[in-house]
Amino acid sequence: MLILHVVGARPNFMKAAPVLSALDSLDGVGQLLVHTGQHYDANMSQVFFDQLELPRPDVNLGVGSGSHAVQTARIMTAFEPVLTEHRPEMVVVYGDVNSTVAASLVCAKLGVAVGHVEAGLRSGDRTMPEEINRLVTDQLADLLFTPSEDGNANLAREGVDRDKVHLVGNVMIDTLIRLLPLAEEKLAETGHLLPIDPAEPFCLATLHRPANVDDPGMLKRLVDALADIAARAPVVFPVHPRTTARLKELGLDGQRPGLHFIAPLDYLSFLGLQTAATLIITDSGGIQEESTYLGKPCLTMRPNTERPVTVDSGTNLILGRDTERLKAEAGAVLSGRAKRGVVPPLWDGRAGQRIAAVIDSWRSGT
Ligand code: UD1
Repeated sequence: MLILHVVGARPNFMKAAPVLSALDSLDGVGQLLVHTGQHYDANMSQVFFDQLELPRPDVNLGVGSGSHAVQTARIMTAFEPVLTEHRPEMVVVYGDVNSTVAASLVCAKLGVAVGHVEAGLRSGDRTMPEEINRLVTDQLADLLFTPSEDGNANLAREGVDRDKVHLVGNVMIDTLIRLLPLAEEKLAETGHLLPIDPAEPFCLATLHRPANVDDPGMLKRLVDALADIAARAPVVFPVHPRTTARLKELGLDGQRPGLHFIAPLDYLSFLGLQTAATLIITDSGGIQEESTYLGKPCLTMRPNTERPVTVDSGTNLILGRDTERLKAEAGAVLSGRAKRGVVPPLWDGRAGQRIAAVIDSWRSGT
């Protein structure tokens, strides 16, 4: 049996690594890895392949940036001949990025089965490009691997055949658990190079959602709030390329006391910083989950989340676009009043193995 995996953007890489590794141990399974090239900077892509020990991609579609339609169309056009050439029995796609939906559409038209890892998540917010990608991918997928119960409930509500849906747990946490010791080692070895002292209280911030960074007023309010928080505890902010461009355009990229903009970090360095941070401020999806696993207070600057388990069970608070509340909640955490949480079920480091077991049964028709 040949399985082809499609990855494209930074958050895909840590999800694919445990699945490739678990499938490797099945007899008679060949695997191909296709990188769409949605993310192409070395520090958004190559460094992740190295640290996660992902095999070199067999094919790189090299699509690069573009509007949503352009990027999605380019991926589809470049992926179709790859699929026709190799004719895998199954294509596995990850998460909710443009590469995920583009590859799923090509497979559906050519009659190739799709497995979707991280299926069923819903924010209910169709203004988010990722929500559209999730809805479409889940309608097309033949096997849907969910990280938490809410995913199963969402899919049932949308009429997805329950036999296709498998609650397997969180693959991103598989990678976190595997690499946590290396991340802590890396922080101990290289922490002195950081603009903050990781042994002292500090905040870790990441912001890249269009709703936050493509709205000049909102981005300015966010930067002002971070500068305000930095007066109490320094803030280190690894900046996504999209955000770097917007900060430059608006002249907001100057350093302010205690607020440190730095280049995007590799996986191990970022995970190491999360383990040491007093507080995490983000609009990412994955970081809401990682902070819940690590028991770190997380303030999410979005009106909703597709990962409600991080709020119901974990350490996450959803603050919408309210930067005054961000300052107040950050103040509470820095004064020692942080939300506590528990690790959700099946976030145990074995989700990749469960996915491999489901695919093994699927190929033998059981
Ligand atoms: C994408 C995903 C988002 C995910 C994020 C993680 C979609 C719809 N969005 O958003 O869900 O949270 O990745 O990073 O797929 N750029 C570079 N170098 C790169 C990649 C991007 O400079 O290696 C710049 C380009 O100017 C590009 C912009 O960043 O226009 C945005 O990249 P894109 O892949 O379109 O979306 P992200 O915002 O990264």
